Amino acid sequence: MNIKVEKERRVVIITLDRPQALNALNTPLMNELVAVMQQYDKDPEVGCFVVTGSEKAFAAGADIKEMNTKTYLDMFHEDYFAGWEQFTAIRTPKIAAVSGYALGGGCELAMMCDIIYASDSAKFGQPEIKLGVIPGIGGTQRLTKSIGKAKAMDMILTGRMMGAEEAESAGLVAKIFPKETLLEEVKSIADNIASYSKTSVMIAKEAVDRALEMGLREGILYERRVFHALFATEDQKEGMQAFIEKRTPSFGKS
Ligand code: HXC
Repeated sequence: MNIKVEKERRVVIITLDRPQALNALNTPLMNELVAVMQQYDKDPEVGCFVVTGSEKAFAAGADIKEMNTKTYLDMFHEDYFAGWEQFTAIRTPKIAAVSGYALGGGCELAMMCDIIYASDSAKFGQPEIKLGVIPGIGGTQRLTKSIGKAKAMDMILTGRMMGAEEAESAGLVAKIFPKETLLEEVKSIADNIASYSKTSVMIAKEAVDRALEMGLREGILYERRVFHALFATEDQKEGMQAFIEKRTPSFGKS
């Protein structure tokens, strides 16, 4: 196995575990990660994923040693990297907890998560230009949407790394924690998210994702329709009734 999986309360923590390759993302790792997440995605007892790596590397990219001899036709017929679309299709929120290197596919994996929290040691980058290629798992698109054209061009054309503080001020990272406490802090945020109604969390995530895909008018209409839909759930009734009764809501599976 190239990953370690633990379940703590309603949170599944997945640790990338290929230390000899700084967690480079090869096909077996991708398949294991997707299979585990698909299994838990449908589980009403799981409310959030945390994806993390080691202190030295979240992931140092796609596996260069798996790719280097491939031809165009190999890449085309394997539809190389298309499997990552199954990762993005996971509907339960997924949080990246990043320490150390998040380079190339590693940075792209973090960006495929819904929130990135970083330790003060994190280094983000899209260094593919140095290998004679370009980002191939969404980097040119997601980095640009996340931090804007100026910085995305700077990162992708120079291949330089960006530290945690710059990544936070650019909007790539939601918050920075000391590396010693990163995972505990992120698990506690994940616990909080997982304590809410899974239905409303999934719908909220989907609505935010729509903001990246559609215009404002359509996006607001979409939001209003799914907001209305939540009034068909027991969780909405319970959440509002609990507020009125000044008690903690008990959300179910509706
Ligand atoms: C395969 C990798 C790897 C990678 C590191 N390793 N990154 N193997 N694919 N992406 C391996 C090294 O070969 C080495 O194995 C071991 O991990 C330790 O790495 P070192 O380089 O010795 O460590 P260090 O000197 O600390 O340098 C760390 C590093 C460097 C700066 C992160 O490893 C590095 O630059 N890695 C490549 C980063 C990169 O270019 N990523 C983008 C990949 S392309 P051995 O066996 O020698 O000990 C990509 C998308 C491609 O992600 C899209 C195009 C289609």
